[in-house]
Amino acid sequence: MLIKPAITAQPFGKTLNGEDVNLYTLEIPGVIKASIMDYGATLTHLFIPDRNGKMADIVLGFDDFDGYQKKEYLENYCYIGSTVGRIGGRIKGNQFVLDGKKYLLEPNNGKVHLHGGKEGWDRKLWEAEPFNKEDSFGVAFTLFSPDGEGGYPGAIDFKVTYLINPNGELTIEYHGISDKTTILNPTNHSYFNLSGDFSSSILDHDLQIVANNFLPMDENSLPTGELKNVRDTPFDFVEGKKIGKAIDRENEQIKYGNGIDHSFVFDIQEKCAKLYDPKSGRLLELSTTEPGVQVYTSNYLDGSIFGKDGVAYNQHCAICLETQHFPDSINQESFPSVVLKQGEIFHSTSTFKFSAQ
Ligand code: BGC
Repeated sequence: MLIKPAITAQPFGKTLNGEDVNLYTLEIPGVIKASIMDYGATLTHLFIPDRNGKMADIVLGFDDFDGYQKKEYLENYCYIGSTVGRIGGRIKGNQFVLDGKKYLLEPNNGKVHLHGGKEGWDRKLWEAEPFNKEDSFGVAFTLFSPDGEGGYPGAIDFKVTYLINPNGELTIEYHGISDKTTILNPTNHSYFNLSGDFSSSILDHDLQIVANNFLPMDENSLPTGELKNVRDTPFDFVEGKKIGKAIDRENEQIKYGNGIDHSFVFDIQEKCAKLYDPKSGRLLELSTTEPGVQVYTSNYLDGSIFGKDGVAYNQHCAICLETQHFPDSINQESFPSVVLKQGEIFHSTSTFKFSAQ
């Protein structure tokens, strides 16, 4: 199908260093409208119709770039909509050994290295280039990450592409190549609330995850290395259930995460997770090339950040579905490898398909 691409670019604000930040908006009227800023290659808005065709924005964010720089956000920083790199999640002891050499990473979350460190890819200004294909269109954001950045080896040429199509799909694709053997495990950190009402919680959303196993965490939110069957645990979403049903405050794993903050191991890749809001009828169906997803039910939001339209972002007002390899894989031999060999092409794709019922 030939479609008429509608891509607009507009100024969104300035960084504290005075650099211009631009917002790119992709729209298929009545189907999907996504805005992404070049700072952090961050998804800022995502408008989707409900069962009556009414469009609403279903991702947390701020009305303009100033919101992303406010003290209240930087002090409670939580990667809203960001591209996360080089490594999503925590790394045990802030260190790893690769080809016999030890690498030390900087701590940025208390004593722990999280989501690529202090100056991760979420805080970089990316180069943006809109493009059209026959049946989709989007924006490609590119970044050069120098050797040693954040403590990681290898200079990486990286690209994240956001594209939409008339089927209501938002696809996020990642490509990378490194001049030295390194580790790479990027993800997107969007917070979804399909009702579009961020003052309401997602505990009433239905979630299905086709995953018979999840990764238990220790008290520091690091995977223990075990793959545990979800049966008879709060983490059993195989048949689908209300998210609220899983938040059993007596469960040790739920206590460790202050909610769900765990990785699930997909049994399939196509339609491996579904999120549904019974009120609006909006449905998100996820497909990915990645082996798992870190599900985070915005457990550490506490109302101190005021987002779009001044709404306070409270605990459980949104859910992140971070498709990726498992956290701390480089320190867990049994987990699928996140090693990217020198000159090898990294490629990963996740599709978020929206409809309403
Ligand atoms: C992590 C959480 C963290 C959140 C915001 C999630 O991906 O799993 O532990 O609080 O990101 O930084």
